[in-house]
Amino acid sequence: MNQQLNSIEETEKQKLATDKSILKIWGSSRLQGNVNISGAKNSALPAMAATLLSSEVCRLHQIPCLADINTMGKVLSALGAKIKQNGNTLDIDPRDLDNPEAPYELVRKLRASFFAIGPILARLGVARVPLPGGCAIGARPVDLHVRGLQALGAEVHIEHGMVNAYISGSKKKLQGAKIYLDYPSVGATETLMMAATLAEGETIIENAAQEPEVEDLANLCIAMGANIFGAGTKTIVISGVPKLHSVDYTIIPDRIEAGTFLIAGAITNSDITISPVVPKHLSAVISKLKSVGVRIIQETSDSLRVLHGETLKSTDIDTQPYPGFPTDMQAPFMALLSVCSGSSSMTETVFENRMRHVSELNRMGANIRVKGNHAIVQGVPKLSAAPVVGTDLRASAALILAALAAEGETTFQGLQHLNRGYEQLDIKLQKLGAKLQKVDLVKENHTFPSSI
Ligand code: UD1
Repeated sequence: MNQQLNSIEETEKQKLATDKSILKIWGSSRLQGNVNISGAKNSALPAMAATLLSSEVCRLHQIPCLADINTMGKVLSALGAKIKQNGNTLDIDPRDLDNPEAPYELVRKLRASFFAIGPILARLGVARVPLPGGCAIGARPVDLHVRGLQALGAEVHIEHGMVNAYISGSKKKLQGAKIYLDYPSVGATETLMMAATLAEGETIIENAAQEPEVEDLANLCIAMGANIFGAGTKTIVISGVPKLHSVDYTIIPDRIEAGTFLIAGAITNSDITISPVVPKHLSAVISKLKSVGVRIIQETSDSLRVLHGETLKSTDIDTQPYPGFPTDMQAPFMALLSVCSGSSSMTETVFENRMRHVSELNRMGANIRVKGNHAIVQGVPKLSAAPVVGTDLRASAALILAALAAEGETTFQGLQHLNRGYEQLDIKLQKLGAKLQKVDLVKENHTFPSSI
């Protein structure tokens, strides 16, 4: 990250990434009030990468202050871009982009930084980005990104864990192509859509991901001068242009953070209002909340109020690509199902290893059985506090939600995961009246509970 950004908030950012504090949560309190939803992490990350397509300074608003955003900033800086941060606004100057190689240490930490391969290749004619590897939730290959770039005319060779891509010929231009994605991968759709904006001719991406973040990225690129049609549907058509210009763009609210707060309201039998949100982006989550008996009221065009209904009852959920139920809400919703009466089923179809929160929820008194990617949740009347450890971002959110509803004092370890995706979650919950406290283990001379 460049000097200005370093000097402003580097200490704060270091803390986010390496936060070894624990959260103590005293559950069973009712929450009340309004929550401000931050900009979407999954829009902000590709949006930052997309600014590399431009040869002018770009301004992005509503960028959440998160560890992942910091890592992406470091990747862009390593490539030669300059970044200035002012609160939730980022100015990115990509004019001096000159290094085609993203550092392994950063890509390893943040898979999404691999998505920068499309813009780097389109701008410089060459890109070297390490394979990101798997993570806690699955193997997460990038074959669809690679095959799509090859279809656009790039030579791509993978050697020693590095994806080496270049465009041969004197013009150094990708060529428009028809690409069918075997799976509607969000990241592959974003990589290929960005790369195609500067290609010669027309690109058609079929079986594209329809996630709101893909549409948001397309809108950003369109505001930079790209010709993109159909983003948000299964077929995206991109007519390449010679260059993209500067932009002043506000990204969409985070639908996963919004969904997490809707569940926080439901699981604590509370009355809270969240804004800004795009209610349409939450259709599947709202529909499932209503089917278990939670009341959701759309107060204004960009705010939702959650109220507890009568007794909450079971439901069955399969995660799916958008507009289906989002995999990122699977773990948080399972915390709620664990206190819904009757037997619910939850099937994870997007990632292969996304049930690691179950054993921790069971330690809090939940009754969940897992077979492969299928969980049967037998509702219990009450959860009970326990020391728990978050293994990834959304698993951690699930445990915080369970702790808010549980009787007693939960100690949660895993803030470094939460800091990747939830901006000031502890402070936002405290403002709603939740009883929680961050404890610095070093200062307090604590040790982690022996079961961890
Ligand atoms: C994005 C989101 C993540 C969300 C996920 C699914 C960001 C930064 N992250 O991740 O929060 O959980 O979408 O909504 O936006 N796959 C392949 N080959 C590929 C690419 C993907 O087999 O080349 C598979 C993956 O292993 C996974 C499935 O496709 O099983 C979906 O992955 P994908 O949609 O690509 O997720 P991400 O873009 O990585």
